[in-house]
Amino acid sequence: MNSMKSPTDSPVKALSVADVCAAADRIRPGIRRTPLLDLEVDGRRVLLKLEYLQRSGSFKLRGALNAMLSGPLDDPVVAASGGNHGLAVATAASLLGVSATVYVPQTVPSAKVRRIEAAGARLVRHGATFAEAVSAASEVAVRRGYRFLHPYDDPAVIAGQGTVAAEIVADAVDVDTIAATVGGGGLAAGTALSAGKRGVVAVEPEHCRCLHDALAAGRPTDSAVDSVAASATGASRVGKVPFTVLTAHDVSSVLVSDEQILQARDRLWEECRIAVEPAAAIPFAAWLAGQVPGELPCLIICGANADWTAGSGHT
Ligand SMILES: Cc1ncc(COP(=O)(O)O)c(C=O)c1O
Repeated sequence: MNSMKSPTDSPVKALSVADVCAAADRIRPGIRRTPLLDLEVDGRRVLLKLEYLQRSGSFKLRGALNAMLSGPLDDPVVAASGGNHGLAVATAASLLGVSATVYVPQTVPSAKVRRIEAAGARLVRHGATFAEAVSAASEVAVRRGYRFLHPYDDPAVIAGQGTVAAEIVADAVDVDTIAATVGGGGLAAGTALSAGKRGVVAVEPEHCRCLHDALAAGRPTDSAVDSVAASATGASRVGKVPFTVLTAHDVSSVLVSDEQILQARDRLWEECRIAVEPAAAIPFAAWLAGQVPGELPCLIICGANADWTAGSGHT
């Protein structure tokens, strides 16, 4: 067992694209390289990075696997999650042959709970919010000396998430803007590392806006959490490490309403037969509203852990 220390307790060396390249090499055997879809919508061209087709149903596997492979392979690992990070940790743990315990808030959708358990993790429901689940999980990890895998405030997780945008720029060199959903900021920070000189648009629900509030305050600060996408974007405070990366890269912050998110999700389904959870439609909502600039923008369609099957009751 390692001594329990949060990755943000120690001074963090500046992350760079080299960390993303190392992560890509490390996680390649365990992940899928997801495709790009080149579309015309409302007379405008846009690329979609179909990351919801990732193993475990979201990009989160990239960061979880990189973090687990970058440190000691402790057994068990502990995570807290609104769902997708927990499922990613459960999947990575099963790939690597270690056991995982995942804390989730009571509000987590059943589609995510079911899959975390099916992936073989022990599931603990705790608290009403993601923040309460995190504090219970990290407290247990400290007490028992287990490794705690933070969902976004960890350099190795951010480097892993950066492999999504690294694939985008390798597969479509002309992309000039990349838009990503923000929860605690791990995906957007990783995207900024890989984007080079391209623009990065970080999109949040208007009532889950911890990055937006932090940028206004000049430091991470607490924000309210209330959105249809809250199981994915429900961090009440942006991570310290993501905030450092995002402010160094001059990322632009955009907000969309729940109504725009649901309309965007429905259009992805109606027009493209892309079935995703609300958080994954957030960059598309921003693009439809004209808030993602660029001649050739790419939107990360980042998660599909909703229920669409007959057994789920959504027929
Ligand atoms: C589908 C999806 N999109 C976006 C996010 C936000 O990611 P981050 O916390 O790295 O900002 C999450 C987080 O769980 C997610 O599950």
